[in-house]
Amino acid sequence: MTDIEQHQMSPDDWDELNFPRANVQGFDDVVETAISRRGFVSGVLTFGSGAAVMGTSMLKGTSAIAGQTDRFAFEQLPIQTDGTVHVPKGYTWDVLVRWGDPLFSDAPVFDAQMGVPTQGSDRVFGENTDGMELFSVGNHQLLAVNSEFVNSKENLAHTQNGMPTDASDVLRLQNFQGVSVMEVREAETGWEVVIDSPFNRRIHHNTEMTFDGPAAGHDLLKTDADPSGASSFGTFNNCGAGRTPWGTYLTCEENFNGYFGATHEPILDDVTAAGYARYGVPTKVDPGRYNYHGFDARFDITQNPNEPHRAGYIVEIDPTNPDSTPIKHTALGRFKHENAAYALAPDGRVTVYMGDDERGEFMYKWLSSDKYVPGGDTSTLLSDGQLYVAKFNADMSGEWIALTPAATGMSPAEIAIFTRIAASKVGATTMDRPEWIAVNPTAVEGYCCLTNNRNRGIKPNAGGDDTAPNGPNPREANNFGQIVRWRPSDDDHASSTFEWDLYVMAGNPNTQEGAYQGSSNINVGNMFNSPDGMQFDTTGIMWIQTDGNDSNEGDFAGMGNNQMLAGDPVTGEIRRFLTGPHGSEVTGLTWSADRRTMFVGIQHPDAPFPDGEGALPRSSILVVKRVDGALVG
Ligand code: FEO
Ligand code: CA
Ligand code: CA
Repeated sequence: MTDIEQHQMSPDDWDELNFPRANVQGFDDVVETAISRRGFVSGVLTFGSGAAVMGTSMLKGTSAIAGQTDRFAFEQLPIQTDGTVHVPKGYTWDVLVRWGDPLFSDAPVFDAQMGVPTQGSDRVFGENTDGMELFSVGNHQLLAVNSEFVNSKENLAHTQNGMPTDASDVLRLQNFQGVSVMEVREAETGWEVVIDSPFNRRIHHNTEMTFDGPAAGHDLLKTDADPSGASSFGTFNNCGAGRTPWGTYLTCEENFNGYFGATHEPILDDVTAAGYARYGVPTKVDPGRYNYHGFDARFDITQNPNEPHRAGYIVEIDPTNPDSTPIKHTALGRFKHENAAYALAPDGRVTVYMGDDERGEFMYKWLSSDKYVPGGDTSTLLSDGQLYVAKFNADMSGEWIALTPAATGMSPAEIAIFTRIAASKVGATTMDRPEWIAVNPTAVEGYCCLTNNRNRGIKPNAGGDDTAPNGPNPREANNFGQIVRWRPSDDDHASSTFEWDLYVMAGNPNTQEGAYQGSSNINVGNMFNSPDGMQFDTTGIMWIQTDGNDSNEGDFAGMGNNQMLAGDPVTGEIRRFLTGPHGSEVTGLTWSADRRTMFVGIQHPDAPFPDGEGALPRSSILVVKRVDGALVG
């Protein structure tokens, strides 16, 4: 495997190549047991069809929408395999903004073949759009958007292979990632970015921010550039997103490990070495994934071994104040954060559900000590409280296990920095790559996309899968993914126990047998694989976005390009709404203040989308509307 090939790999493939690791306990063991209890009907699982599946005891939290049979205002879109976007009849789409479009009038002009030069690369919309949220300030609408990673070959078109050749190249890559905050408005000609709005801001790999929570100021966070261990420089691999009830944006640091590397054989203490191993921080002396460390000493672990400890957090940004300093909340744990979905407990305490997207990692919940009071002090709500990790039992019950010093033998700071290690000590349930979590606004329940895990039961991924059942586990080699749902006890998100089921198991009824056909709400018309993004609209419809295999062949024949579907949480019905251009994933979804426009993210197309033949492919945010101007969620 050459370095060129490595930097073009997906993060999970790259981690698997470099850091094969050991598992603890298999979620599919639990799923299989649960499936056995439910039984098969003609080879198709009987999950996901509302009351018949969940039982009446689990329906008490469901809203009055139960009983309706079709809540979707559109007809199912067929699969597509081409290089553009499709939406159902009665809807339109347009491009709001593309990678490299200006946020400020002094930004460089995007060159269709060469992209954007380093000078001014922090004045344009970032690359690889992902999670986003819209905030209203008076009459202004502000979109905060993540830029997750870079497609180096497109960003550094002047190089042979997309690997940086000097510090300027590294700076360009650093500037294209992070977060863009920008004002948007609907003009007569359609939606547009308000160039030079005083709200516009780029946050990237060198933006100063502060730490709070138990790890702030700890020795493990101290570096040459920050001997206090209280400041951070930059936010990394900003994947999914979230918001707080008090109007701030949460950006989630996911595959941060790939930015670091070694220029010389490192000498590491045991604590640091164990942490590197668990989080996949590379220690080999080679260019690695991006070769930042070849030109920027901060990313060289031989010179700054603590720098990787300063990434992998939830970061809070006030989008309404471009001068505000982002805060890294160490209390919410350090792992490959996908997104952050809040729910208020009945007594006003704040819960935040979070997934760690790696094969065999965990799901987490934060619970604040203090209560949210509108207009009151919110400064402690993401720093004082308790972090929990999920354990799913075979009897379809579950519990949130508190990650305390007593339970883990670790200090609060160590739990915050090495959260994965703490979670393994308490017997949490390993999962098939937790991606987005979403909370239903019309029922007390949460959902998590478990995108796929092709190694489940096949070979060690996050290790020890040789202990997985070798019997009729229907979802070994899980190429399709599933969505798990939980209902907290007493209709209270602060509860430490819950009941769970599967909302859907993706599959292929055409080409597969048994559990691989998918659950009963999957059919030849709505097939998809690898659920990833997920958001609820205000009416309680769940929007599911996919990031999977779009070959449309073999196991995936009949699924077409990646897509966005609508799911009814009550009936289980799922219907395809939008398809992305070939090569892209559909990720990131939010709504205009009047709910008449959807903003949908298209990340890493391989077709020359949206500018056509001869132009670089550019990640873009779309605006999707109904032709008749009616509400879209
Ligand atoms: Fe960035 Fe797990 O998706
Ligand atoms: Ca994702
Ligand atoms: Ca994904």
